[in-house]
Amino acid sequence: MSVLSRLLNREPAGSGLVIAPMRRRDLTAIQVIERQVYPQPWSANVFVNEIDMAREGQRYYIVAYRNGQLVGYAGMMIVLEEAHITNIASDPDRRREGIGRQLLADLAWEALRRGCTGLTLEVRLSNAAAQGLYQQFGFEPAGIRKKYYENTEDAMVMWCHNIDTADYVDRLRQVCPETAQRVAAR
Ligand SMILES: CC(C)(COP(=O)(O)OP(=O)(O)OC[C@H]1O[C@@H](n2cnc3c(N)ncnc32)[C@H](O)[C@@H]1OP(=O)(O)O)[C@@H](O)C(=O)NCCC(=O)NCCS
Repeated sequence: MSVLSRLLNREPAGSGLVIAPMRRRDLTAIQVIERQVYPQPWSANVFVNEIDMAREGQRYYIVAYRNGQLVGYAGMMIVLEEAHITNIASDPDRRREGIGRQLLADLAWEALRRGCTGLTLEVRLSNAAAQGLYQQFGFEPAGIRKKYYENTEDAMVMWCHNIDTADYVDRLRQVCPETAQRVAAR
């Protein structure tokens, strides 16, 4: 890994994925994906507000680039010792290539860095892909929020507790060695 890559927080050679903080200039490409993957996509203003709050430390938003193209993004809200995943998406043409896994691993490492002990999120009951991803990271169902989406579909609340333990850190390293390597180089 070159000195420049380290400074830019770049992914080690091999994975081909570059993870970086989300910027306003990413929003055009983000919205192309956002509109394809969600029935009620976030507006640009919502992203701008989240990016602003990230600057103040209340949020953390990242993007993933491959070959210069934005292929995914994710973010979370940090409240005391809990990190609430607010959004995670990968390009529909680049699914099952490990993008979601690397984004979620990056969020989990950052939550740890900020002293969080747990991760939480809501997911559609019908969203088997996302649930499969979350299960890899140790998320477990913790309840249902009725008609959470579009006042129609229920959400499953998922929690991943005790992330601040050696066992969980080992799990993170195993689930996503690429991100563990990048975090270690920071
Ligand atoms: C959920 C999402 C981010 C996963 O992104 P991805 O880049 O395809 O994920 P990865 O390639 O890293 O997959 C990681 C794991 O997730 C699970 N997974 C991903 N897609 C899956 C699918 N279609 N069916 C079942 N499990 C799936 C698997 O466990 C997979 O590991 P494996 O490939 O080793 O079996 C992506 O499907 C997406 O953007 N969905 C639309 C937006 C969304 O629903 N976000 C979640 C909101 S709660």
